Amino acid sequence: MSDGFSLSDALSPGNNPNPSAPPPQGWPSWGNQPPAPGGFPGYSGPPGTYPGSPAAPGAYPGAPGAYPGAPGAYPGAPGPYPGAPGPYPGGPAGSGPYPGAPAGSGPYPAPGQPPSGPGFGPHPPQGGPAPPMKVPFELPLQGGLVPRTLITITGTINPNPNRFSLDFKKGNDIAFHFNPRFKEDNRKVIVCNSMFQNNWGKEERTAPRFPFEAGRPFKLQILCEVDHFKVAVDDAHLLQYSFREKKVNEVTKLCIAGDITLTSAVATMI
Ligand code: GAL
Repeated sequence: MSDGFSLSDALSPGNNPNPSAPPPQGWPSWGNQPPAPGGFPGYSGPPGTYPGSPAAPGAYPGAPGAYPGAPGAYPGAPGPYPGAPGPYPGGPAGSGPYPGAPAGSGPYPAPGQPPSGPGFGPHPPQGGPAPPMKVPFELPLQGGLVPRTLITITGTINPNPNRFSLDFKKGNDIAFHFNPRFKEDNRKVIVCNSMFQNNWGKEERTAPRFPFEAGRPFKLQILCEVDHFKVAVDDAHLLQYSFREKKVNEVTKLCIAGDITLTSAVATMI
């Protein structure tokens, strides 16, 4: 680098107690994010459209304009913890699932995916903490998945957890099983797989880290892309899973089960 510049010059001391640390919203593994020229159809809000987000705009360095105003790991993620009033330290107490979501600026909720069923995210009770939703929980995905369907789940890991799972289902088949295990041979591991005709396929166990902790709140986002799912936890990309089931438009429900307390589960389009 040139002599005249250092990272600490660019950051105010108050915001950067540890200049050697990566940026708080940095995604070192984000290199697999495909370019998104033109940004997001249906989204016209300026950066900072989601007030109350502690995340800095420009979460995607090098992709200017690709994710306008997106404070989270996945664009369109409305606010840091939608629908989760106050359970996240540092997160604003949300009065609704999409604080500041600009009226008419995009599909909230997604077209074809109106709220359905108790506890469905877009309209949780206002003015108080959302009650925990029953687990197992089934989130209907009306019309199935399409590229840029974003599922946002918030909750808290139970004390002394063993496992939890998300199952994106096409009938009885599981197109995508996302399964954090807290004590497999005394280790923590994330197992991803698919199940067709009651047979599990080959497990993928390549997650670079295990971001869940007993007793801790989390935000889990699953973004359906053209040929893979992306998973982010607490606004940081975690892994991706290539489609084995190609007909994701026939994936019409998400089952959430295991050792978590569920606060919200929302499907949107970004
Ligand atoms: C099995 C387990 C299933 C599922 C599967 C994934 O051992 O019983 O619940 O997690 O692994 O491969």
